[in-house]
Amino acid sequence: KFEKIWLIFGVASLIVFLSVLGVSAFHQGHHPSSWSNIIDPEQVDETKPFDEPGLKKVEGKEWDYELVFVASAFLYAPSEVQIPLGSTVKIIATTKDVIHGFQIPGSNVNMMLEPGYIVEYITTLNQPGEFLVLCNEYCGVGHHMMTSKIEVV
Ligand code: CUA
Repeated sequence: KFEKIWLIFGVASLIVFLSVLGVSAFHQGHHPSSWSNIIDPEQVDETKPFDEPGLKKVEGKEWDYELVFVASAFLYAPSEVQIPLGSTVKIIATTKDVIHGFQIPGSNVNMMLEPGYIVEYITTLNQPGEFLVLCNEYCGVGHHMMTSKIEVV
């Protein structure tokens, strides 16, 4: 009788644990399921906003700038960008070929770019300086050279 209670308790906590895992995986949005986050990887250069990578000032939104990145083996477009200190920026990124990473060491920006998906991240830049964008997913022979630079001034 006593053992049965423990068995039920064990199964119940396993279910709780698994559902917590499921919820956090969903919130991190590694696999966005909304149709608006889907893009044809062959048409990246022709699809807005990826036809014009770089920084754009926007009006009437909760963020001041949109920063569009296109990753491909083995570079990011833009390779360098300057952003005014204190601005809130929406990073919008995708990849044209294979899976690439998008990590800014020293910040909490750490995304995975998958072909066919658009990822977005809103952040406020309160720290001046130069920040590197690094690829942290192995993508081929040029992987270790794949960087971009964000200058917050
Ligand atoms: Cu791109 Cu590693």
